[in-house]
Amino acid sequence: MAASDVKEGKPLTSMADVITPNAQGLRPSDIVKPEDPSTWELAWIKGVTPWDFKEPQLSLKEAIESSGLVFPSTGNALVPGCGGGYDIPYLANTLGWDTLGLEIADTAIKIAEEIIEKEKEKNPKFLGRISKQDFFTLNPPDSQHFDLIYDHTFFVAIPPSLRPEWAKQMAKLVKPGGYLITVLFPLVPDFVKAGPPYHAKPEHYTELLSGDFEKVVEKVPEKSSPSHVGQEVLMIWRRKVAL
Ligand SMILES: C[S@@+](CC[C@H](N)C(=O)[O-])C[C@H]1O[C@@H](n2cnc3c(N)ncnc32)[C@H](O)[C@@H]1O
Repeated sequence: MAASDVKEGKPLTSMADVITPNAQGLRPSDIVKPEDPSTWELAWIKGVTPWDFKEPQLSLKEAIESSGLVFPSTGNALVPGCGGGYDIPYLANTLGWDTLGLEIADTAIKIAEEIIEKEKEKNPKFLGRISKQDFFTLNPPDSQHFDLIYDHTFFVAIPPSLRPEWAKQMAKLVKPGGYLITVLFPLVPDFVKAGPPYHAKPEHYTELLSGDFEKVVEKVPEKSSPSHVGQEVLMIWRRKVAL
């Protein structure tokens, strides 16, 4: 399937296909309120976390292992809004890089901390870590900017009014020549109340990122995690190098 097919929303018939409510009939948009980021913790406590695959997404594995990108032997990666943090060991172990996850919800942080601790027991040189911090306030010195940032459903977690700020932060935090991997999920045909808790279309990323990034990949992944089949688009962006 081409990305243009999913852009038109062809694989989907209704919102019920996209976000399955939890046992109590709740969806993220019932709980998470954009004006109050502390409501993310409620979503975690109530188990309204349909994005939570409990493993790295297959689309991330495809981006790292078979998209044709060549990664250096040392580097650092950032996973903003990392949830349970499953991507932290994946990136730290696969790339051998220092990998930082950012989260604001305590329940998610606890899950990620346990995962990181287990990894450290297996490998004392493990380079993954998590920090309780708002992505929008992250302001490291230039020398600590990132070779790679991975965004899976963080873009659709923030209020759409913050998307320009999201793009500004990404452009600041990704080193020139570094990569931003965005996995768009859920892909829906129209603007309806959905998502974790919002939703987006590929062009929303392009509009915001094309000034500072070159898009090097836009595709429907070869394999998707079961909850994501036909509803995600993988996009990889290279930070432009100033002339
Ligand atoms: C839709 S979930 C995605 C979690 C994770 N990326 C995954 O794929 O499993 C979004 C996460 O971002 C966190 N979050 C929301 N706003 C944030 C912010 N400003 N800074 C850091 N984390 C944030 C929420 O607590 C939530 O766990």
